[in-house]
Amino acid sequence: MNVGIVGLGYVGLPLAVAFCEAGHNVIGIDVDPRKVGALQRRESYIEDVPSETLEAVSDRLFASLRFAELSRCEAVILAVPTPLTRNREPDLAPLLAATTAVAGVLQRDQLIVLESTTYPGTTRERLVPLLEESGLAAGSDFNVAFSPERIDPGRTDYTMSNTPKVVGGLTEDCLERAAALYGEVCAEVVRVSTPEVAELTKLLENIFRSVNIALVNELAVLCDRMEIDIWEVVDAAATKPYGFMRFEPGPGMGGHCLPVDPFYLSWRAREFGQPTHFIELAGEMNQEMPRFCADKVARALNDRAKAVRGSRIAILGVSYKAGVGDLRESPALKIMNILRERGGEIVYHDEHVPELPELGLTSLALDDALDACDVAVIVTAHPGLDPQEVVERAPLVVDFRGVTSGAEKVVRL
Ligand SMILES: NC(=O)c1ccc[n+]([C@@H]2O[C@H](COP(=O)([O-])OP(=O)(O)OC[C@H]3O[C@@H](n4cnc5c(N)ncnc54)[C@H](O)[C@@H]3O)[C@@H](O)[C@H]2O)c1
Repeated sequence: MNVGIVGLGYVGLPLAVAFCEAGHNVIGIDVDPRKVGALQRRESYIEDVPSETLEAVSDRLFASLRFAELSRCEAVILAVPTPLTRNREPDLAPLLAATTAVAGVLQRDQLIVLESTTYPGTTRERLVPLLEESGLAAGSDFNVAFSPERIDPGRTDYTMSNTPKVVGGLTEDCLERAAALYGEVCAEVVRVSTPEVAELTKLLENIFRSVNIALVNELAVLCDRMEIDIWEVVDAAATKPYGFMRFEPGPGMGGHCLPVDPFYLSWRAREFGQPTHFIELAGEMNQEMPRFCADKVARALNDRAKAVRGSRIAILGVSYKAGVGDLRESPALKIMNILRERGGEIVYHDEHVPELPELGLTSLALDDALDACDVAVIVTAHPGLDPQEVVERAPLVVDFRGVTSGAEKVVRL
């Protein structure tokens, strides 16, 4: 099979590699010439895809800026970004631009699948009309389906092949074709009745996480007042063998998904006159966490008779999650900006993020970051970080990930 993949980012590139490894040819299209150039040189820019893997599939992976190449594909998968506008409304511009370009080269009998996270109704109401501008009819001349991506960057126990893939088709035939496509790279395909069900399934998964993280963050803020250790509470609750699922507090949500996706649904819900209280409340709580955490650093310094102004503050881990270098919506950046605005001298260490040009900073070696710092702040605990070493070397440690214990100089969320 020739499979086209539009958008070669965190979702599209691993998917492209999976289809190549299953023996298919992939035509990958992106509007970013740097990404296409890197792929043509077999250089990966996604941590989960080593360059050696690209090399191994080099005879089957073809990257291009030209949508016309898609005309020789049996199936085309769209994995372009679905961000929010500045007013926090769905920004479908990349998706609509990609769809229009695909419509321009659409062929009879092709299967078009959307994987980008979006509100229920997008596939049917926004994608299909644009594709039909080709003069072909969806459901009869070509097939359309929605299948949400469940990739968790950095994760190795659950990968594309052993994570069930949900698929919803415009028609029964669309569903079966999409199920057969994903059957090539996933052990289990879960068929649902419509694209809308598949679209909302993905949002439910993300909203579930957002709401539960907000709940435990709210308790962390309360525990701070009550002088109870939230980590000990979570550990104890997690011993219940049923009816409880562990979620950990933290400095706030980052990445392309949790801070963004739930608002696609609350926007859509407004059209139906139905408020989505849990989504909004969870968003507010999680967005407040970086400010709460910056205040916690200020209080920890104050307790040692120091001001933020003039203190050297070593931020450890600036990406939004452990083990990856993704900076999108990272709470660490917000914490750093708040503390810098208050006059703190900010340095950082992150083995996954060599530089932060917007802050004018480069990552220091851990030793250099800890040397002469007034406080070390663990914002993201990468697997390579030894919390014990941090506690031994820094005069004061603020830990937002619950990875340190015991010492009197440690302040935990
Ligand atoms: N990153 C994740 O962990 C994850 C997980 C599940 C779902 N998703 C969803 O998948 C979608 C893609 O996310 P991502 O993280 O891969 O984004 P990304 O930014 O890493 O990659 C998207 C790619 O699309 C390209 N692009 C933008 N506009 C384009 C256009 N008009 N035509 C062709 N290419 C275009 C970009 O240059 C980029 O390379 C989003 O809807 C996201 O919510 C992401």
